[in-house]
Amino acid sequence: MKPLGPIPPGFSAIDGVLAIDGRKVTDLVAEAGGTPLFVYSRAMLTAKAQALRAAMPARLTIHYAIKANPYAPLLQHMLGLVDGFDIASGGELAIVQAAGIDPARVSFAGPGKRDAELEAAIAAGVTLNLESEGEATRALAIAERLGVTPRLAIRVNPEFDLKGSGMKMGGGAKPFGIDEDRVPALGRRLMAAGADWRGFHIFAGSQALSADAIIETQRQTLALAARLADEIGAALPRCNLGGGFGIPYFPGDEPVDIAAVGAALAERFDDLPEALQDTAFCIELGRYLVGESGVYLASVVDRKLSHGEVYLVTDGGLHHQLAASGNFGTVVRRNYPSAIATRFAARVEEEASIVGCLCTPLDRLADKGGFPRADAGDLVAIFCAGAYGATASPAAFLGQGPAGEMLI
Ligand SMILES: Cc1ncc(COP(=O)(O)O)c(C=O)c1O
Repeated sequence: MKPLGPIPPGFSAIDGVLAIDGRKVTDLVAEAGGTPLFVYSRAMLTAKAQALRAAMPARLTIHYAIKANPYAPLLQHMLGLVDGFDIASGGELAIVQAAGIDPARVSFAGPGKRDAELEAAIAAGVTLNLESEGEATRALAIAERLGVTPRLAIRVNPEFDLKGSGMKMGGGAKPFGIDEDRVPALGRRLMAAGADWRGFHIFAGSQALSADAIIETQRQTLALAARLADEIGAALPRCNLGGGFGIPYFPGDEPVDIAAVGAALAERFDDLPEALQDTAFCIELGRYLVGESGVYLASVVDRKLSHGEVYLVTDGGLHHQLAASGNFGTVVRRNYPSAIATRFAARVEEEASIVGCLCTPLDRLADKGGFPRADAGDLVAIFCAGAYGATASPAAFLGQGPAGEMLI
């Protein structure tokens, strides 16, 4: 049997059925009209954000990167929990605008911003994290044409990366940000052009679980920000320290020790260099805030045997949960936390693989895990489905269509 990832805290069993916030998933599925279904929990979102805020220094504001989960009801809930929002496209700009989010709380990072996206963001008053000198030139020209003072920050491509992170966004040649040595000249140019100078965005990586690695990256980020601000010759108004806080997806993973990260950051804030004395600092997190609050539910359509192996064939699959299938940025496939939701309290009885309904061997949600015996009609649950699920999976593949979504 292959191990399964750790089920996040906060779930229980009622009458042997998986329950979220005291509600049985069978009732939730009935309410939603069937599976496949993502269920997100308000209570878990709130608890996670509050615990994070309690651990971080008060001076640090928290931004939510909506790429992790832009589901409108969830975004509405996040509005009351975080200070700002990070978007990565004109489409995400439209989503935050539809949610009524104040553009002054929004920043836009991401390579390849088209002119229409720059224009919409500048007109709305969103802060642009510029990814290249060319993008800066286009942004300044658009702002001049519109007669608007653009809010401009520079996304720095740092020489360091976030050690142990699942996805590295710094350290060497990257399509993201502007290499350190070219930042001072561009910063001076933006200020000379009359832009509203919003400082730096320094995002070194994503999905790191080691507090030590995050602490070290934040130390390097602050030192880099101070050095670049000195070279520009002006105090730094804002600095986005990136994020990268991961969640435990796989067997053996441990949660980030946020108390240690917060304490180390508080110490640094107490001893800031001159250029950063009045800087406003934020972090930008996606999966950490929302990932564990979501569960993906699918129904077993067929139970079959092949060469002695049990397959639980479901009505879901990688078209909704690409990451759980191991095809979204993982090198070695390992099992996400998963369970038979309708037999949540039952003991392990057999080895089985939970697969999807797509005719590709990639469509495997749990590989040779230990489960109670399940049959057609049972529900399976894949946990840690709150981030990079519904919108980071190829829902149109094979004409299957999207899953339902529900916030409780
Ligand atoms: C610029 C930027 N901000 C935020 C995120 C969110 O990362 P995570 O969901 O791991 O917190 C990413 C992830 O790729 C990113 O590239």
